[in-house]
Amino acid sequence: MSGKITFTMVKPDAVEQGFTGAILGKIAEAGFRFKALKKTQLTVSDAERFYDVHKGRPFFRELVDFMSSGPIVAAVLEKENAVEDFRKLIGATNPDQAEDGTIRKLYARNVGENAIHGSDSDENAKIESRFHFSEREIF
Ligand code: RTP
Ligand code: MG
Repeated sequence: MSGKITFTMVKPDAVEQGFTGAILGKIAEAGFRFKALKKTQLTVSDAERFYDVHKGRPFFRELVDFMSSGPIVAAVLEKENAVEDFRKLIGATNPDQAEDGTIRKLYARNVGENAIHGSDSDENAKIESRFHFSEREIF
């Protein structure tokens, strides 16, 4: 059975361009409830740990440098079928392949600087939420 929680980050490219409010608005309009929300910045070592599954991929260093380059907005979101529905809302990794109306189609620059993260499984949603938030920051 699919879970009710997913985790997201508005990535540094979108925060820097002033898209945070518009993106959070689209998330809320799509029926997600914010269980936790904060603006923060990953260190290089935080980003290496968060993206450990991609270690060894050709884009790993670029990804770590990008994700630690400026502030992000992290959130824990709640909705039925959260992981799958959220990935539909954000669209394909590469904005050129993302459907019209998706967050990446609207706000991403390219496959690397792609505006937003969404967990890819219920298990990772829990791990990623705990990575960014303590128990008492989640409501
Ligand atoms: P995310 O984890 O950020 O929600 O993205 P995703 O599942 O759609 O894509 P994933 O395969 O998990 O890749 C994580 C992030 O790495 C960057 N990337 N760059 N240059 C490239 O070919 C490339 N491929 C991936 C993107 O920032 C991607 O979101
Ligand atoms: Mg991913």
